Amino acid sequence: MAAIGVIGAGYVGLTTAACFAALGHRVVCADRDADRISALRRGEVTAHEPGLPDLVSDGLRSGALCFTGANAEAFADTDFVFLCVPTPSGPDGAAELGVVRSVLAEIGSRDCRVVVKSTVPPGTAAALSRETGIALVSNPEFLREGHTVADFLHPQRIVVGAADPEDARAVLALYPQAPAIVTDPTTAELVKYAANCFLAMKLSYANSLAELCEVFDADVAAVTAGIGSDTRIGPDFLRPGPGWGGSCFPKDTRALAAAAAAAGVDFPLLTATMSTNDRQADRVLRRVVAETGPLRGARVGVLGLTFKAGTDDLRDSPALRVAERLVAAGAAVRAFDPCVRGPVDGVEVVESVGAAVEGAVAAVVLTEWPEFGALSWAELKPTMALPVLVDTRCVVPVEAAREAGMRVVRWGSASVG
Ligand code: UGA
Repeated sequence: MAAIGVIGAGYVGLTTAACFAALGHRVVCADRDADRISALRRGEVTAHEPGLPDLVSDGLRSGALCFTGANAEAFADTDFVFLCVPTPSGPDGAAELGVVRSVLAEIGSRDCRVVVKSTVPPGTAAALSRETGIALVSNPEFLREGHTVADFLHPQRIVVGAADPEDARAVLALYPQAPAIVTDPTTAELVKYAANCFLAMKLSYANSLAELCEVFDADVAAVTAGIGSDTRIGPDFLRPGPGWGGSCFPKDTRALAAAAAAAGVDFPLLTATMSTNDRQADRVLRRVVAETGPLRGARVGVLGLTFKAGTDDLRDSPALRVAERLVAAGAAVRAFDPCVRGPVDGVEVVESVGAAVEGAVAAVVLTEWPEFGALSWAELKPTMALPVLVDTRCVVPVEAAREAGMRVVRWGSASVG
């Protein structure tokens, strides 16, 4: 059992703290947001993460987990300090390291192993180690929002980068058994960006295939099934949609592109990955307008606002980008999302799918919530101004909607009707 301090109680920090406590370690988790800490002390978890509220309650009850607003309490008598603080995009896309730096300054010469979980550009731990005299260990996270607890407790791999192999061994020993990649800090940092950017690239590839399929009158679902069954390609992350988003892919693609550019390395795959994504919202708008005609003064019903299903997170959500385009085209947008209760800029957030699509010239599915696959279009259609359904996530059973009289625009397919 180790004594662990975790700095940051966001998705990553809170999951790290609660899971380490569940694994038998003693954990102090610090965050500068006083309201968040008060709520967590009462066992209230606002993040939409299955399993996390229970782990937090269990940890508080057993005493294995506690929360503080003072970082120093998370450094006191700890063997390890995990940095789970934000590294947002700066104006040029590069990751900003201000919070990481200020926490390191607070840690000073304390005798504990300092582990960076925050996503930082390659070379950061090495440079900051030289600067501060703290031998930083890099231990990137691969947690998907909405699955953070399961991903933490059953990792596909654990990556640890340390200058001293003893530090790497000590960090690995905190975790459940999993395939381990032990390397130097810079390589570990690059693994994180390489993973997220590759997944983003795969998605932009799938979205470009969808665009091609629409032009050639082919079916992207069959194309992605056809390539995904090749084990060298794999079936995951090939579902086309309105573009990728969230708190990680946009930030990490920008940061790696900035790091590559600063190092003088031409990385056109990365820039194309981003520019392809930037086009997707306009593509959605075009397909809506092709069915409805000009949107000025018309009502559009948006189904789904979060950046993916299974989370309440709106950060960099492709659905918001599309809603913004619809509003700019003159539409009045009403949106329903099972996990969002307004307000959202420019959009009227309503309490049901029925309220979102009533009087609308189109219903546009932008997040793959499973409940959107079980809607009764026979009931919804008579309330709409036009029976147009644009399903960018391919969750609606097409035949049933067609039988109900909807004109269904399938994403990644030319067929409408
Ligand atoms: C991502 C990575 O998947 C995690 O491994 C990583 O740890 C995390 O970023 C991070 O860096 O912290 P997350 O941001 O939770 O996790 O989101 P994903 O599940 O990867 O989805 C990202 C975007 O891709 C979403 O907008 C989603 O809708 C979209 N997507 C995903 C598709 O459009 N199609 C797919 O087939 C899969």
